[in-house]
Amino acid sequence: MRRIAVSNGKGGVGKTTTAANLAAALAREGKSVLMVDMDPQQSLTDFFMVDVTEEGTVTVSELLIAPQLDPNAAIVTIATNLDLIPGCERLAAFDGALSKMKDGPMRLKTLLGKITKNYDYCIIDTPPSLSVFVQISLNAAEDVLIPMKPNDMDAKATAHFLETVEVIQEDNTELKVSGILFTMTKNSKTQEAFSKMFKGHELENAVMKTKIRDNVKLSVSGNKGQDIFSFDSKSIGAEDYKNLAKEVLLWR
Ligand SMILES: Nc1ncnc2c1ncn2[C@@H]1O[C@H](COP(=O)(O)OP(=O)(O)OP(=O)(O)O)[C@@H](O)[C@H]1O
Ligand SMILES: [Mg+2]
Repeated sequence: MRRIAVSNGKGGVGKTTTAANLAAALAREGKSVLMVDMDPQQSLTDFFMVDVTEEGTVTVSELLIAPQLDPNAAIVTIATNLDLIPGCERLAAFDGALSKMKDGPMRLKTLLGKITKNYDYCIIDTPPSLSVFVQISLNAAEDVLIPMKPNDMDAKATAHFLETVEVIQEDNTELKVSGILFTMTKNSKTQEAFSKMFKGHELENAVMKTKIRDNVKLSVSGNKGQDIFSFDSKSIGAEDYKNLAKEVLLWR
């Protein structure tokens, strides 16, 4: 199971939209995909309208805090080839506790190791912070895909986030910055200017050829509980995420 964290310390860059639609695109390519919502905002869980308010529901927060629970029992089926371990606002309360536990930062990796179904990909959505939840997610991942909008503020935040990734890589030597993804792009000139930002940079080859163009349908579909392919398979959003999935399938 190839584990990809979709992450950036910056908020509102398209992490959740990318996690949901990349996962859906890979599922449509015939890959078996497990999504994990590691954000206490539970945006990915809300994206697919999974209700976690019922008492006794097991989400990633219970799994992290009580590792004796079986993660397989928490998996929710979203569509063909597409499953989710939901997240929950309760997770926010465990920030301090997980940081203090010696094995806290490794618990996601351990629980993913107990998943018995043979998934091809695991896509982890992460919060916009440099919190313990991002640390836990990056410790469990082999690849990090970093969405950013082509503007100076996101460039600065991304540079800062890359420093965090380097710190994690000291322990998790498997972790690679496999993709930098420009999102919500409006014209090719800005995209080009920002692609140039990585020119000669060691991460130049990580810049995804696919750019996710600004497309209001991506926003509307998320509010309706549908991935872009179920919502409007002919939209440019669907075209872009399909191309992104094809690129990700080529990652070595
Ligand atoms: N390509 C796009 N075109 C238009 N709107 C988009 C696009 N991608 C995302 N959005 C919208 O932009 C907003 C932020 O996107 P999203 O929630 O995916 O970002 P995020 O990085 O996960 O945010 P957070 O940091 O809060 O978790 C959402 O309203 C989403 O619907
Ligand atoms: Mg999000």
